[in-house]
Amino acid sequence: MDIKGLYTASETRYDQSEQLYARCGRSGVMLPKVSLGFWHNFGGVDPYERSRAITHYAFDHGITHFDLANNYGPPYGSAEETFGRLMDDDFRSYRDELFISTKAGYDMWPGPYGDHGSRKYLISSLDQSLKRMRLDYVDLFYSHRFDPDTPVEETLQAMVDIVRSGKALYLGISNWPLEPLKQAVEYLRAHDAPLLIYQGRLNMLHRKPIEEGILDFCREQGIGFIAYSPLAQGLLSDRYLEGIPADSRMAKDHFLHPWARTDKLLQYLHELQAEGETHGRTIAQEALAWILAQAGVTSVLAGASSVAQLESNLHAVL
Ligand SMILES: NC(=O)c1ccc[n+]([C@@H]2O[C@H](COP(=O)([O-])OP(=O)(O)OC[C@H]3O[C@@H](n4cnc5c(N)ncnc54)[C@H](OP(=O)(O)O)[C@@H]3O)[C@@H](O)[C@H]2O)c1
Repeated sequence: MDIKGLYTASETRYDQSEQLYARCGRSGVMLPKVSLGFWHNFGGVDPYERSRAITHYAFDHGITHFDLANNYGPPYGSAEETFGRLMDDDFRSYRDELFISTKAGYDMWPGPYGDHGSRKYLISSLDQSLKRMRLDYVDLFYSHRFDPDTPVEETLQAMVDIVRSGKALYLGISNWPLEPLKQAVEYLRAHDAPLLIYQGRLNMLHRKPIEEGILDFCREQGIGFIAYSPLAQGLLSDRYLEGIPADSRMAKDHFLHPWARTDKLLQYLHELQAEGETHGRTIAQEALAWILAQAGVTSVLAGASSVAQLESNLHAVL
């Protein structure tokens, strides 16, 4: 499909709704248990038609939630631009069937106003994001990280005002430690803009949200939890069993270092592979199923560099 406006979503995309969707905390929002992340593979450096094919596959199979951030790319902003192009090319008529998130909190533009947690940064960043994404509003806006130097009320009031202005329907928090998260929950609830969801790194190799009580807190408070980097950027799959493929994130990207491929990891992967075989699952499917089995987890936010990867990942739930 490469002609603008001619994409028609599969009519069977909601056929497996019962297995696919989960309620996000105590809210009215249902999210797919496997959501699609735009951190990698959707930037200006990536082939548009491949990004496009991945999103078509996702939506055709009921994956309605796409997760972005202001600085996803590279270059920064370009994943949102890719999404904006996809909106115009294919998804405009499906806008109300999509749940789109973006974030601000990490470095985005030079100078004192393009980073951290000020009102100035969050509000102008979302305005920029909406332009790049060619949207009037996002479904979900996140504070991408906690900023200890900005009064927490300033960040939170900016988020409340974003919802009031209609530029986001719901609010999310990502990577905040437990204590400020508790403050945020209280503040947002008191200002009638309750926290919908927490986004944290959770996978079999990184269990901090469980160990630090964040997942339990969210569950008790009726807040959804979405696990990012559920495959530890690909480590928890068969990708690196035999070496480092030239087209892999580890070979191409500074976010995943070759030193992560240790003998200990390989041994763990072989054990996981053997266990997966008893359930008829791949390593990646085993890793995703483990996260989804944790009480309080709403969705795994998976990345994919091909349709085949996403297809395989979806089999963790379907
Ligand atoms: N809030 C935050 O601070 C934060 C931080 C990080 C990520 N995120 C969100 O989480 C999303 C996912 O993060 P992530 O990309 O690190 O997730 P991930 O699912 O842990 O890793 C995705 C990568 O794993 C490999 N892979 C995926 N499926 C595979 C399969 N079936 N078999 C073999 N390899 C497979 C691919 O790498 P190759 O490229 O090597 O093929 C793919 O790009 C991001 O897009 C973003 O939306 C949020």
